[in-house]
Amino acid sequence: MKVVDNIQELRDQLQGQLRVAFVPTMGNLHQAHLSLMKMARQHGDPLVASIFVNRLQFGPNEDFDRYPRTLLDDIAKMEQERDVYVLFAPSEKELYPEPQSFRVQPPDHLGRILEGEFRPDFFEGVCTVVLKLFSCVQPKVAVFGKKDYQQLMVVRSMCRQFQLPVEILAHETVREEDGLAMSSRNRFLSAEERAEAPALYQTLQRMQQQVREQVLDAHQIEAQACEHMRARGWDVDYMALRRQSDLLEPTAEQYAQGEPLVALAAARIGATRLIDNLEI
Ligand code: PAF
Repeated sequence: MKVVDNIQELRDQLQGQLRVAFVPTMGNLHQAHLSLMKMARQHGDPLVASIFVNRLQFGPNEDFDRYPRTLLDDIAKMEQERDVYVLFAPSEKELYPEPQSFRVQPPDHLGRILEGEFRPDFFEGVCTVVLKLFSCVQPKVAVFGKKDYQQLMVVRSMCRQFQLPVEILAHETVREEDGLAMSSRNRFLSAEERAEAPALYQTLQRMQQQVREQVLDAHQIEAQACEHMRARGWDVDYMALRRQSDLLEPTAEQYAQGEPLVALAAARIGATRLIDNLEI
């Protein structure tokens, strides 16, 4: 695996490659990232991965400085798997040589709901860096995890509207044995919080079950889920039932007729904010 920190060298390495597969990450790799890479490798060749902790997508009170930077460990993990041909790990100066005044702003109906309500600049930061990374790597396919369900939808819409010649593939959420979705933020959990953390996924499963039973309406299910998590000591941002197609609320009729839904959750346990979702 070649580790490259500058854009020109990356382009030189990839010159003439027509089916580049790409997995963008912020590093601190775990099994879920490696599965994304495996999938990408099956859909393109060569595979490029990137590691870049993108300041633009962190709010002022978020954990940019605390975000784990573990480049040497990450390189060792990727070398062991042997899927990645080039790791692109640019410095901030390389990717943002001047203040990034051009930004990609997602539409409010997609970018200001759910995560966007609690992290107002998040999707603008994600889209801006993903567009820049796509411009550097010029992939034919790129793989994103369903764990960040809204991010996946936002990136897909951006690619569609800008007619970017890249296919976005979705990878299923990878979970620990007890159901907790794998995330770099799990490492911040204390032993006690780690033991409690699977409750988020269990509550999503309960929401899924309640939708299937159709005894309660969507709002009642959301309210019960919030109440349940709060009673367990979580600080809940949202527990929401939305349409898979556009993340908007289903009408009562759509709900009754079995519209494909997704239950999405964001909640804090102690100081750590976790997100998860489950398709229904
Ligand atoms: O999901 C992530 O790790 C990041 O949001 C991404 C897509 C690498 C952009 O910084």
